[in-house]
Amino acid sequence: MLAHWLLDPTVTYLNHGTVGASPRRVLAAQQRIRDEIERQPSRFLLRELSSTTVGMPRSSPPRLRAAAELVAAFLGARGEDLVFVDNATTGINAVVSSFDLRDGDEVLLTDHAYGAIRNAVSFHAASRGARVRAVELPSPARGPSAFTETVLAAIGPRTRLAVVDHVTSESALVLPIAEIAAGCRARGVALAVDGAHAPGALALDVPSVGADWYVGNLHKWAHAPRSSAFLWAGKERQEGLHPPVISWGLGKGFTAEFDWAGTKDPTPYLAAPEGISFMRELGLEAMRAHNHGLAWAAASLLAERWNTPYALPERMVGTMVTVPLPERLGSSSEDAARLRDALLEQERIEVQLHASKGRLWVRVSAQAYNEIADVERLAAAVTARTS
Ligand SMILES: Cc1ncc(COP(=O)(O)O)c(C=O)c1O
Repeated sequence: MLAHWLLDPTVTYLNHGTVGASPRRVLAAQQRIRDEIERQPSRFLLRELSSTTVGMPRSSPPRLRAAAELVAAFLGARGEDLVFVDNATTGINAVVSSFDLRDGDEVLLTDHAYGAIRNAVSFHAASRGARVRAVELPSPARGPSAFTETVLAAIGPRTRLAVVDHVTSESALVLPIAEIAAGCRARGVALAVDGAHAPGALALDVPSVGADWYVGNLHKWAHAPRSSAFLWAGKERQEGLHPPVISWGLGKGFTAEFDWAGTKDPTPYLAAPEGISFMRELGLEAMRAHNHGLAWAAASLLAERWNTPYALPERMVGTMVTVPLPERLGSSSEDAARLRDALLEQERIEVQLHASKGRLWVRVSAQAYNEIADVERLAAAVTARTS
């Protein structure tokens, strides 16, 4: 499988989740679109790309809308409810900056939220006099229902908006997002889901999650070129939802506003359907089963080799797994950075490592090009450093 990627075959790449890695054929499709643009840039960008720009639309539907339809179909959604954004960070910024937060309102996050998202939410909340509350999630050993109960119990009388991950970043947990969404709805709290790691990793039907907004990266697990993500909004949430970059589409409706954010490269969006075709050819079920099976096998292998605790229901694991490292390897962020660099420089293993709760953790991503031998290599490299 590795031959489908440009990845250096001498490196054991266990870090797919961090910035993704595009298959060769997706990059080739993106280049073909670039070549098409460059034959007549004005025609493509001003007349064919979207209905927002100055020229007379010549293609019907506009190219971005056609791509949005294909991506939406993959997600069980309608193209008219989905817009492209560069990444999950941009999508969440759009939602929170557009939401009518007022002085004294509260925005709910969890303590597993991704740092950049925490910053974005805090920034937009503070500018409106709202406060942010990060609820501490329970031990995963207590199972998904404990997560739902904890999040819903943290909703207070001033909570108006919640931003919750579908798959958490460092801890790599699949949260019971549909149950959390139902609880938020029943309590009148708007929910934005940070699904940065979900599309392509999990079987995902976005509307049935029941959230108000859903943001997902296509450039992580859905094999799109980098700078490709989507923002889905329920019908009643589309009015007043603005992109962080205001441009020609202002006041022309949800898709028009997002479909032109100034002159930029649209190829990561337009090549996203090629990533979906690639997954379909691999077999969506087969690919997910391989990735999940490998992540789950990695968890037990590493916990057993390193004699570290690991207790987690399998349904809270997707295509990544986070396992504690042996205690003697350290506990600080500096220890994590040192070990991460040593693994790459000395062992040619690229993997995500972080410090949390007084110890180090490793997050293993399992993609179609990985196999259990990659995990064995990581296990041995770490074990060698403990003796
Ligand atoms: C849960 C979560 N949210 C948001 C992001 C940010 O994604 P991006 O850098 O593509 O905006 C990440 C990145 O890893 C993430 O793990």
